[in-house]
Amino acid sequence: MKITVIGAGNVGATTAQRIVDKQLANELVLVDIVEGVPQGKALDMYEATPVEKTDVKVIGTNGYDETANSDIVVITAGIARKPGMSRDDLVSTNKEIVKSCTASVVAKSPRSIIIVVSNPLDVMTYVAMKTSGFERHRVVGMAGILDTARFRSFIAMELNVSVEDVQAFVLGGHGDSMVPLARYSTVAGIPITELMSKSTIDRLVDRARKGGIEIVNFLKTGSAYYAPSSSAVQMVESIVKDKKRILPCAAYLQGEYGIKDTYVGVPVKLGRKGIEEIIQIKLNADEQAALEKSANEVKELIGKLKL
Ligand code: NAI
Ligand code: 2OP
Repeated sequence: MKITVIGAGNVGATTAQRIVDKQLANELVLVDIVEGVPQGKALDMYEATPVEKTDVKVIGTNGYDETANSDIVVITAGIARKPGMSRDDLVSTNKEIVKSCTASVVAKSPRSIIIVVSNPLDVMTYVAMKTSGFERHRVVGMAGILDTARFRSFIAMELNVSVEDVQAFVLGGHGDSMVPLARYSTVAGIPITELMSKSTIDRLVDRARKGGIEIVNFLKTGSAYYAPSSSAVQMVESIVKDKKRILPCAAYLQGEYGIKDTYVGVPVKLGRKGIEEIIQIKLNADEQAALEKSANEVKELIGKLKL
């Protein structure tokens, strides 16, 4: 198993470190355009392996030769948000970055599965799919696991219970119009609608929607990376171990949920082939309308792209 992580910044380096710590690859390649940074971080990570007893070869590079024949590629390259910026403000800069990284990496790893993290997530995943020419099941975006993890954390904090017992469900694009589904969110199997008032749930939903900017406003110089990297690595693990986990990910819809020609967050089965199934659940009219609104916002941004 060979994994390449493109972008050795906060998300990329933390993702690489988590992959090495969990020994999900025999070889991990970290790529960045800044000279010395991927080499230094990769060497530092490799020097931790004797202590951590993790037998993974870690290589840092500014080129793509070393990435050849990767099984999985995680794209985190791009600029991150600063206070006052929306994810959509990143579109033109990150489009060029994701396009060039994708073209370079797929030339060396034509059989890989691509996981996109760069923002705006749903649009950048589309850019990677179109640039790679890969089938839709081999290009998947990370956002839903993060959005769900945030919602789960806020539910656990509110009820003062272990996060372990909290499950949640978030659909839609990675933006302010994401769709947390309260009736599919549970604590030890009990729907949260039985445990909290509507106004409390609405407050937690709102906080989950704004979870990204909450961290940006604290950090000021960048955006979240601990929870994002954990989320990306959960996807990597499900693919590497062919776990076939059902995870909320950005998938290219071709009629599922009545939505076509756009990426948006839905539950998918992730295994060794990538997206092995898009799980379609029954939505009520309000939920369906919210998902369509979110998908249309992504579609509108995609429509403005000149690829
Ligand atoms: P960062 O600024 O710490 O790292 C980005 C790295 O990309 C930098 O090291 C930069 O040199 C590198 N880079 C830029 N152009 C490149 C190119 N052409 N080739 C290779 N490397 C290149 O940013 P951070 O925090 O790591 O975030 C990365 C991206 O992930 C951002 O777009 C951010 O918005 C997004 N993100 C998405 C999340 C999601 O839920 N989908 C969550 C967190 C971040
Ligand atoms: C987040 O939600 C920045 O999209 C990133 O933290």
